Amino acid sequence: MKNFLPQDYKKNQKLKINHSYLIEQFADYSNIFKEVEKVVKKGDYTLGSEVDKCEKSFAKRTGAKFAISVGNGTDALLLALKALNIGSGDEVITVPYTFIATVGSIVTAGAKPVFVDTKFDYNMDETLVEKAITKKTKAIMPVHWAGRPCEMDKIYSIAKKYKLHVVQDSAHIIGAKFKNKHLVNFGDACTYSMHPLKNLNVWGDGGFIVTNKKQLAKKLFLLRNHGLKNRNTCQIFGYNSRLDTIQAAVANYKMKNKLDNITKKRINNARALDRLLLKNKNVETIRRYKHLKEVFHLYHINVKKRDALQKFLIKNNIDAKVHYPTPVHLQPAAKFLKYKKGDFPVSEKLAKTSLSLPVHEFIGKREINHMANKINKFYKDR
Ligand SMILES: Cc1ncc(COP(=O)(O)O)c(C=O)c1O
Repeated sequence: MKNFLPQDYKKNQKLKINHSYLIEQFADYSNIFKEVEKVVKKGDYTLGSEVDKCEKSFAKRTGAKFAISVGNGTDALLLALKALNIGSGDEVITVPYTFIATVGSIVTAGAKPVFVDTKFDYNMDETLVEKAITKKTKAIMPVHWAGRPCEMDKIYSIAKKYKLHVVQDSAHIIGAKFKNKHLVNFGDACTYSMHPLKNLNVWGDGGFIVTNKKQLAKKLFLLRNHGLKNRNTCQIFGYNSRLDTIQAAVANYKMKNKLDNITKKRINNARALDRLLLKNKNVETIRRYKHLKEVFHLYHINVKKRDALQKFLIKNNIDAKVHYPTPVHLQPAAKFLKYKKGDFPVSEKLAKTSLSLPVHEFIGKREINHMANKINKFYKDR
């Protein structure tokens, strides 16, 4: 099913290029209401057939043997760590350039996050991982930032060498592949978010853990529902983190009708921007590789005079954003980890030079050209 263009983009109207289009994305909500009506008529409000269907579809899309739906992407990370018995006294290696939930999940599991720097493509620098391993290390948590896979064969082979778990924060990366393989093949589990701003989004919160490991899946199915084996038997103490059945109906509709088109459009828009910005010496686009299928949850450029450019673009109705201006090791919450400014120079540089441009499914050639022209003009005039 095609996505339609919102009113703003009708020809001859002044361009306004926003980052998110939630109203337009769900303008066909009446179709989803019909699915929700079925849930209501069945009184099927917790788990049930809609959730089962969602898990089957998600497993198929991610090439996984098992998909366990949960309440959100943060719980997905936390439950994956819990199911792997990672907690107090353990260390988990991850990156400081990420959304706080990655690191938050490690801390709330009771473990200690240990950072390694990123590369200029925003992903974990795999060459630094081995040096960060100690006797306490239990897992590596790479983040496939912006929808670009990390170098998973290298990270996974380090994990195997040191007998470490791999939990991949895949919140941004539904539909991506590494060397033509699904990411689930490179570790214990991948975790996903269906937050409203993600490529596969629902009407609130939702998340997934996928794995090929049967025992791990079994434990995760228990953990997300109070550890209940059946109505009257609690196998292990757990959580209430079920995917809401109504959100499952939304996700089923989106997977069936929209997600492929969303992914295709994002890839095409990103490629077009790459081409148009290539010659601008003030703009560093990210080098693309054939072995990485990226899905562009975010489209980043690294630029000179970032804050001035962002102001200029916003003034010109282009919703350029910064994801994010402060790496996690410099957040007040991370003080107890005792990192300091200068510890992760690449992440810190990215925080100063990174700009995200909209590349979503409601943008076409005209908007892409307009954004590139404005960026090129900004530097020409200075
Ligand atoms: C990299 C990353 N990990 C985890 C999460 C957490 O997902 P959720 O908001 O569904 O809890 C997010 C959400 O934005 C994220 O960007």
